[in-house]
Amino acid sequence: MKVIIDTDCGVDDALALAFLARSPEIDLLAALATFGNNQTFNTARNTRYVLDAFGKQDVPVYSGARAPFVRDYEHETSVHGETGLGYHTSPDEAAGRIQPGFAPSALLRILREADDQVTLLPVGPLTNIALALIEDADTMRAKVDRLVLMGGSTARGNMTPAAEANFWHDPEAASIVMKSGIPITMVGLDVTEKMKVPRSYVERLEGSEATAKEILGDALRFYSDFQLQASGFDGFVFHDALAAALLVRPDLCTLVPYHVEISLDFVATRGESLCDASGRFGEPNVDVAVDVDVNEALQFILGRVAPEVDVATDLADLAA
Ligand code: RIB
Ligand code: CA
Repeated sequence: MKVIIDTDCGVDDALALAFLARSPEIDLLAALATFGNNQTFNTARNTRYVLDAFGKQDVPVYSGARAPFVRDYEHETSVHGETGLGYHTSPDEAAGRIQPGFAPSALLRILREADDQVTLLPVGPLTNIALALIEDADTMRAKVDRLVLMGGSTARGNMTPAAEANFWHDPEAASIVMKSGIPITMVGLDVTEKMKVPRSYVERLEGSEATAKEILGDALRFYSDFQLQASGFDGFVFHDALAAALLVRPDLCTLVPYHVEISLDFVATRGESLCDASGRFGEPNVDVAVDVDVNEALQFILGRVAPEVDVATDLADLAA
């Protein structure tokens, strides 16, 4: 399966990149960086660094949008850390190995040159994808077989009570993507907030021989510290890697066709994904994940990211 990821490489994006690198079914053609969890020059550098750590030096990384269409980008570091990888900082030299060219244009070039269709995996704000649609929607519709994206929710937000972060950062971009006509699988907070992993996993990861344990350990420890003060759960909750896992195991989630629109008003609901399954408010345009096989997903994903670390022990801790 040919895949291109669009990422605001922060902590859970790094898990998704590690999962893709450890999945033989995936032919990762490129990674596109966007703003979101951090500024684009950091998310691009982090993407390059994590892919290299997992042996994917051959996967090109392109830098994309630095801000959303309408509002200014408000940079904050409490969730993913100062430069996006928690307590870890990717080396400056990684920034020197970002491909020249703007990510949306690189995406269109790769699609035009591709013999087969490509699956896009956006796990950050959708600005790069929307820009490519504005530049050449025909190529996007002809060569993208599906967008499997992490974003939105049928019920609640995490940046505001209504809006999930990826959609909140650029609602106009999310709206353009929802209306693109390209088949979409939306993996939202409904299911990703169930991807809870106790801190004991992080401690055992750091004590293991797992690849890139320093990067992932530093990143996940910060994510756990944030989660503890934010919600009282002593561990981390990941989002993006579940969307990545659906590329290989679509059975992990229950999908329901919804009509999805994005609230663009400059009121409290801005960025909300308005999801309707009744058919009364429009034809279904998105397959929305409404449930997940939690234990199976956690063991599958973390088993690929770090096979040296047994997850069952932690799940037992979690269930206790
Ligand atoms: O709301 C969760 C999403 O926002 C995830 O993609 C996380 O990485 C952040 O980008
Ligand atoms: Ca992300």
